[in-house]
Parts: sequence; C-alpha cells; structure tokens
Amino acid sequence: MPRLRRIVLGVTGSIAAYKAPEIVRGLVKAGFETRCVLTPRAKDFTTPLTLAALSHYPPIENESDPRLWEMAHLSLADWAPILLIAPATANFIAKLAAGLSDNLLASLALAFRGKIIVCPAMDGRMWEHPATQRNVETIRQFGYELWGPESGELASGKIGIGRMVSPQTIVERVKNLSISKKTRMRELP
Ligand SMILES: Cc1cc2nc3c(=O)[nH]c(=O)nc-3n(C[C@H](O)[C@H](O)[C@H](O)COP(=O)(O)O)c2cc1C
Repeated sequence: MPRLRRIVLGVTGSIAAYKAPEIVRGLVKAGFETRCVLTPRAKDFTTPLTLAALSHYPPIENESDPRLWEMAHLSLADWAPILLIAPATANFIAKLAAGLSDNLLASLALAFRGKIIVCPAMDGRMWEHPATQRNVETIRQFGYELWGPESGELASGKIGIGRMVSPQTIVERVKNLSISKKTRMRELP
C-alpha cells in the first residue's frame, strides 16, 4: 500500500467516540492503512476490540506497555503523513494548545510533523467558553486544521454547536486531501 495512504486516528474521551469505528471503517474502505491511538478516557466510549477488528491492527492505548519499548509516539509520528484526532475533547484541545504530553496521543501530536486535523466534539457551552476558543485559535496558529464542530442535536438532547462533523464527511474530506511526501517516513517495528 502506498505510504501516503496511511493515517493515524486519535480518539479521545468524548461521547462522540462511539462514531470512531465508522470513521475507521470508511478510511479502510477508502484504502487507508489506519492505526488507532486512544487516550485512556476514550476506552470509556468505544472499544479497542471494535477498532482493532475494523482497522486490522490493535489500537495503541497504554504508553507504559513494555511492548512499545521503541517509543510508539516517535515511530508513529514517522509512519503516517496524517494525524486525525476525531473526536477531540475540550480537554485534549487544551493539551494540544499547551503542548502537554502526558499520554501517548498528546506526545504523538507534539512529535508529529505531518498534517494534523482536529475534529472537536463537545457541549456547546464548553465549545463557546473563551478558554476553548483561545485554545482553538492557538492550535490553528500551529497550523492544525479544524474540521467542525457543527450545529445540531447534541448528546444532551439540546440543539447547539459542538457536534462532531459526521464520519462520512470526515472520510470524504480525508480522501480529498492533497498530501505531500514527508521527508521521514518509516515502517513500524
Ligand atoms: C458521559 C460523558 C460524556 C462526555 N463527553 C464529552 C464530550 O463530548 N466532549 C468533551 O470535551 N468532553 C466530554 N466529556 C468529558 C471528558 O471525558 C473528560 O474531559 C476527559 O478528561 C477527557 O479525556 P481525554 O481528553 O484525555 O480523552 C464527557 C464525559 C462524560 C462522563
């Protein structure tokens, strides 16, 4: 498979993570070799087994796993040209903005030099808070792409802004990205 058809999907602890398997399914169907990286909280909202079955590879979740002695954040950073974070929580966007690296996905984002796409998903009040807006502006300045959020029905049942862009839209937009070859790309150990 051509190396440019590779993608890392980062999943964070939003209720919208139940849609992550749909994203994986669409990406794999579109010919993308897909690896999933979960924050510790993401597992409360989607299952590693589902993501493994659909991506044909076990998701990477636990930075302390000794099988990852090769420093997974660095090897994954060189493996794919696209890091898609969907859904992205307010908490995770704050970590991105602050440059924190206290879990594998956060470390990966710091080490990553390809295209980073962030698909926020949260309650409208969390999205509209000045802290979140400031964090979003900061990561835009880093060059990260923001897709969404959209307005619509939220998990709370209210109508408002904060809905993650649909899995179908995300997959279509990934398919239409023009990706240039990165200088450093390598195989996973
Ligand atoms: C039922 C439930 C649903 C949640 N949904 C969201 C959400 O959609 N967006 C969000 O930003 N946080 C949401 N949270 C809060 C996050 O799970 C929490 O901030 C967590 O620390 C995020 O961790 P992570 O960013 O490392 O994955 C939710 C919490 C609960 C209990």
